[in-house]
Amino acid sequence: TRQPVAKLLLFGATGDLAQRMLLPSLYGLHADGLLPEALTITGTARAEHDDADYQKFAEKALKQFLPDDRKDAEKIKSFLKRLGYQAHDAADVEGYKTLAEKVGDVSGGLAIFLSTAPSLFEPVIKGLASAGLAGETVRIGLEKPLGYDLASSREINDTVATAFSEDRTFRIDHYLGKETVQNIMALRFGNSFFEPIWNAQGIDNIQITIAETVGLEDRASYYDGAGALRDMVANHMLQLLALVAMEAPAKFDGAAIRDEKAKVFRSMRPIAPDQVPANTVTGQYGAGAVKGEIVRGYIDELGQPSTTETFVAIKAHVDNWRWQGVPFYLRTGKRMTTRRSEIAIQFKPVPHSMFRNRGGLLQPNVLVIRLQPEEYIQILVMAKEPGLDREGIRLRELPLNLSLDAAFAGKPRRIAYERLLLDLIEGDQTLFVRRDEVEAQWEWIDAIRAGWTANDTKPKSYPSGSWGPSAAIALTERDGVTWQDD
Ligand code: BG6
Repeated sequence: TRQPVAKLLLFGATGDLAQRMLLPSLYGLHADGLLPEALTITGTARAEHDDADYQKFAEKALKQFLPDDRKDAEKIKSFLKRLGYQAHDAADVEGYKTLAEKVGDVSGGLAIFLSTAPSLFEPVIKGLASAGLAGETVRIGLEKPLGYDLASSREINDTVATAFSEDRTFRIDHYLGKETVQNIMALRFGNSFFEPIWNAQGIDNIQITIAETVGLEDRASYYDGAGALRDMVANHMLQLLALVAMEAPAKFDGAAIRDEKAKVFRSMRPIAPDQVPANTVTGQYGAGAVKGEIVRGYIDELGQPSTTETFVAIKAHVDNWRWQGVPFYLRTGKRMTTRRSEIAIQFKPVPHSMFRNRGGLLQPNVLVIRLQPEEYIQILVMAKEPGLDREGIRLRELPLNLSLDAAFAGKPRRIAYERLLLDLIEGDQTLFVRRDEVEAQWEWIDAIRAGWTANDTKPKSYPSGSWGPSAAIALTERDGVTWQDD
C-alpha cells in the first residue's frame, strides 16, 4: 500500500548528487506526472540562498544534466515552482527549528533525503527529532556510506532508530534502482526454464564484475578512507550476489524480497584470516592509459602515500543446499580497461560430448546479464557451423541476444534515482536495504579486512587501463575458470 507524502526535504541540496541525480530524477518524475500534485520540495544546505536563487540553481543543474530529449521548457518551469530552500548547517542542532518552520505542517507526510557525511548523522537525527521532523508521518532516505564497518554501521543504525522506526527508514543502494538489476528478478522468477538448473547441479560458477574507468574523481577524502571493498563490495556487489543467489520470494514486496536476501547474506561463508590471502586479491592503479588517455597513478592523484585498494577480487561461497561448492567470483576496480557491470553465470559442461572427433571443445553455456553501459541479456550456446565436413560437424559458440536497449528503444532511460525517489515518496521499501541485510554484509566484509590486517596485505600495483593485477586472473584460473570475456 503506497502512501505518498506531501513534502520532500532534501539535505545536501546543492551537492554533486543533487545536481547530477536527484534534481534531474525529481524533474523526470514531475514531467511524467508521477509526483503527487501538491508535492513541495525543500532543499537545504549550508550555502545562503533564497527560494528564487535555489530555483535558478536547480534550473542550471537540469540544463546541464538532463538529456536533451527530456528537456521541456514548460515542464521545467512548473517543476521549479515546487522548489523552496532553507540555508542550514546540519551540525547545528538549534537551527532545525528554522528548518521545521520552513517545511511547515508535516501531517500530510514528509520524506527526507539525507546524503551527508557519517559524522553528521547524530546531529541531524537529533536535530530532526527535536524540531518535530521525525514523527510518524515522516520517513527518511539514507545515502551511503552508512558506516565503514559493522560497529560504526550499528552505531548509525541505532542513532537513526532513536527517531525513525525501521518501516520509515529507507537505506539506499542505488544499484537496486537500476532497471537491469531489477531484471535479474524478472529473468529468474518470470521465466520457468532457468530456475530448475539455477543451483549447484546446473551452475559451475558465478562471476560478478563492476569495472569502472574513472579514478579518484573529486572524492579523495572519502574514497581513500573507504577503498574498493567498502565502496563497492559491501553494498552494490553483495546486493547483486543476493539477487542472483536468493530463493524465490513469495511476493514482490519489501518483506518477502528482503527476507530472502538477508538469508543469503547470513549464509555467506566467512573467510577466515588464514584463508583471506588465497581468496582475495587487492590492487591499486598505477599510471597508464585508459581509452587512449594517459592517466596518473592513484598515489600521484592523491598526493600522498596510501595503501587503499582501488581493485578487489574475491572468491566467495554461499553455504546452503542450493549453492554448495559453487564459487562466486567478484571483482571491481577503478581505472580498468573499460566500464562494465555484468553478471556471468557459467553452467556445467554437458556430461558427455558426442562431438569428439572435430570442431574443437564444447564451451559450457554462459548467461551474461550486462547491467551497463549497455543493457542486455545474452546466452552463449553451441551451434553448428554451416558446412559439409565429412569428419563430423563443426561447432561454434554463439550468443542468443536480448538487447533491452533495443527492445525498449522508445522508452525513456530511467536513472536509478527516479525509481528510488518515487518509492521513497510513496513509501515502498522493496528496493531499499533493511538493517539486518546491512549488518550481515558488514560482518562478512569485516572478516576480510581483518584478514588483510592479520596478513599485512598490501594492494598490488596494476597499470591503469588493465583488468587489475594478474593475481586476479590466477584467482579463477587455479580453479580452471576464466573470467568471462576478458
Ligand atoms: C558509488 C561508489 O556507490 O557507485 C562510486 O561510491 C562508484 O565509487 C559508483 O563510482 C558506481 O555507480 P554506477 O551507477 O556508475 O555504476
